[in-house]
Amino acid sequence: MNLLSHVRSLFAPALEALVPDRAALPALLNAIKPAADAKNGDYQANCAMALAKQLGQKPPDVAKAIVAKLPPNDVIEEPTVAGPGFINIRLKTEFLARALRDIATDERLGVEPAAQPRTFVIDLSGPNVAKPLHVGHLRSTIIGDALARILRFLGHTVVTDNHLGDWGTQFGMLIYGYRNFLDKKKYAGSNSDKVRELARLYVLVRQLAGTIDILSRGYTHFRDEAAFAANPIAELTRVYVNGLKRAAEPDEGEDDVVASGPPAPNPIADSYRAETAKLHAGDADNVRLWKEFMPPCMEEIHKVYKKLEVIPFDHEYGESHYQPMLAGVVESLQAAGVCEAGDGGSVIIRFGPENVALVRKRDGAFTYTTTDLATIKFRIETFKPDAMLYVVDFRQSQHFANLFEASRRWGYTGVELEHVKFGSVLGKDGKPLKTRDGGTTELMVLLERAVELGGHLFEMTYWQRKANGHDVPDWKDYSEDEKRNIASAVGIGAVKYADLSQNRTTDYKFDFEKMLATDGNTATYMQYAYARCRSILRKGGVDEEAVRTNPPLNLGSAAERALVIQLLRFPEAIDAAVADYSPHALTGYLWDLAKSFSGFFEACPVLKAETPELRASRLLLVDLVGRTIKQALNLLGIRVVERM
Ligand code: ARG
Repeated sequence: MNLLSHVRSLFAPALEALVPDRAALPALLNAIKPAADAKNGDYQANCAMALAKQLGQKPPDVAKAIVAKLPPNDVIEEPTVAGPGFINIRLKTEFLARALRDIATDERLGVEPAAQPRTFVIDLSGPNVAKPLHVGHLRSTIIGDALARILRFLGHTVVTDNHLGDWGTQFGMLIYGYRNFLDKKKYAGSNSDKVRELARLYVLVRQLAGTIDILSRGYTHFRDEAAFAANPIAELTRVYVNGLKRAAEPDEGEDDVVASGPPAPNPIADSYRAETAKLHAGDADNVRLWKEFMPPCMEEIHKVYKKLEVIPFDHEYGESHYQPMLAGVVESLQAAGVCEAGDGGSVIIRFGPENVALVRKRDGAFTYTTTDLATIKFRIETFKPDAMLYVVDFRQSQHFANLFEASRRWGYTGVELEHVKFGSVLGKDGKPLKTRDGGTTELMVLLERAVELGGHLFEMTYWQRKANGHDVPDWKDYSEDEKRNIASAVGIGAVKYADLSQNRTTDYKFDFEKMLATDGNTATYMQYAYARCRSILRKGGVDEEAVRTNPPLNLGSAAERALVIQLLRFPEAIDAAVADYSPHALTGYLWDLAKSFSGFFEACPVLKAETPELRASRLLLVDLVGRTIKQALNLLGIRVVERM
């Protein structure tokens, strides 16, 4: 049961009877919220002010009128009206006890399956295959994974599809690199040797093209003729160094433009583009190389997913899957009048005076947009989804806005299309995360480091607790396996939680120290809280089934009451996470729950409670806190361990 919706449903008839225009009703109901300060009650309705304006009456009078019209119920006490018309709402203790008994034996902790299950396609991860995953791929992968888990938990059908960039210019670069610079010995080694050699070729070709780009622009646009005639090497050096200084941050684009200024000839780029074009045209040798490169690359990528502990994707239809469909897509777009002729035989879709998307280039090549349109058609025909969620970087906002508009014009109006966008991962200094030598940080390296730090942290806190006289197991009790398991739960959990706990649309700074803090809104803190619950139940020799059935409940103290309300708010948190596809509603909830739990823990002895009834009542709360943390973390793709 969603507590908030329940409270709102009590107010709905009262507000409906008073509001002059029914259309204003949802906004009034939305103004009923959890109380910011528990002193004022559990929920607060701030709708009297807005309604008073509509009625031309005084807010406190309207507030009283709303209260007078509330239906009789056994959920809330008679609300009080405060200040300029706030309605303070307090849940009845009896009601709380009943609701708590219900969730005590409920595996789903009160979360009801969706009344109308829908089918979702989630487009997630989508790395470009020819290069190692970097930190930029983290967010799409784990936000997408969390959304899939949450929606599935609610009973929706979810199809995850990794839209791999497996057909782009990167492959032209690899093929060109392979033909010209291959280290045959290294390439003949194991799969990871192959991938390392391919990654080296990719970086080499990219750098080479970048160097030629800077040199060529400098030579073409910025050279001093006289200086060049006098000493060509010195002048070339000068324009090159100048170009380096002007060089913008290389970014994620397919054709990396490294220097500024108008373009200039670049034979290296011409060569790898020619290789790409040959691949796309079906050239037998290039297709053979592409088929040879793909499996080892995919194997490396899957190692990262495994380390990240994401649920294996249902599909990995990469861009290559859609190649045979693209010509037909453009014809269909033409027939539907969605696109028009552009310059020199190109085909474009026009969205505004300055806003057009190419679907076929002058040279006949198709684009990212064409592929994405083919993807929409394919997914709608194959999976018949109600909604498609694209978990992709905010920098592609324009692309998706255009894409969705184009597919509506094309006739796909019955499906919800959503760009679930997210901000960037930055270094501690607020700049894009880079390695010391300026390269992009490989995701695998970061994750391995996280696991290593997770292990250190566990070991350190263990000895701290031991030194502080806590009752901890013998260190030798932990097998190497268990220690490794704890290290990865802590390390990977920390990385995921730090990411998911951000409002997804904002950037955040990647900071191991913060994400592995044992205090505050971190996975580590939640994992320790869980382990503490489990250790209390173990120490008390508690039969969990017995604690859950017909518990004598004592909700006498403020701390217990506050904790119970948090426990009952779990469904509310899940609904909020789904409402705008933001897992951070769940981390916010976990943080509130953990705070109430620590308040409870300080105020209420559990195993040493004064009476057996009180002990049983509190043990149930501990049991429920543990189960709720475990379930909520699981929905975020984060593991708990039974002891730490
Ligand atoms: N490969 C793309 C990139 O790295 C992301 C793919 C996102 N999904 C999509 N359907 N366009 O930018």
